[in-house]
Amino acid sequence: MAGLPYIVGNWKMNGTRAMLNEARAIDRAAARFPKVQVGIAPPATLIHRMRESVDLIGIGGQDCHVEENGAYTGDLSAPMLKDAGADFTIVGHSERREYHAENDAHVNAKAQAALSSGLAVILCVGETEAQRDAGDAEGIVTAQLEGSCPIVDGAPEKLSVAYEPVWAIGTGRVPSVEDVAAMHKAIRAKLVAIYGDAGADVRILYGGSVKAENAAELLAVPEVGGALVGGASLTAESFLAIVGAAVSLVD
Ligand code: 13P
Repeated sequence: MAGLPYIVGNWKMNGTRAMLNEARAIDRAAARFPKVQVGIAPPATLIHRMRESVDLIGIGGQDCHVEENGAYTGDLSAPMLKDAGADFTIVGHSERREYHAENDAHVNAKAQAALSSGLAVILCVGETEAQRDAGDAEGIVTAQLEGSCPIVDGAPEKLSVAYEPVWAIGTGRVPSVEDVAAMHKAIRAKLVAIYGDAGADVRILYGGSVKAENAAELLAVPEVGGALVGGASLTAESFLAIVGAAVSLVD
């Protein structure tokens, strides 16, 4: 595992101020788990308030625009996320790729913009069910990496990749540990091809229906350096059970 296990909650379009209590509870618990890195990507409306409510956990955006500012109604730039208190941002989530027609070139530019603004990046890739059924999953995912990994000076220290099979998101279905292992191995090989030796240190997270019940098994898979969690990150109780699974692997 490259670095500390990294468990990140993606709240998607969920959460008003009342949910800051969950973030506070997660933050208090994080003090007991120094060997696990924890982050939450709330809706952008909560980034600033969450920053003021927590001490230890990282806070992220869920997307950013490629430009720093300008006439892009409804969008948010990486420097704005940073200014609001974000440490990182997700880019290239399959929900952005699908509902906002983002392609690899967009995702690449977003990752580049985020890194240039000092934000860490979680870059998402993953195949659809049809692509997996066609036997194409690794080819699709490595092509997504080829197109969307930002070219950085030196080691891509602030980059993590999240492998999220689209068919596993929000469905309760997860790939077998063998399939996760095979895909993470292919992702590692591609990262080393892109970044040289530094590609060995990029964290690769798994995402897609991670829950307390399957977290330990998924996190124990070689090259799985953490988890990107959707539904189960919305309460402190269910999210901390996943963090706990990571703790038991490093303790
Ligand atoms: P679920 O954990 O709800 O399947 O969502 C995964 C995800 O998309 C995280 O980014």
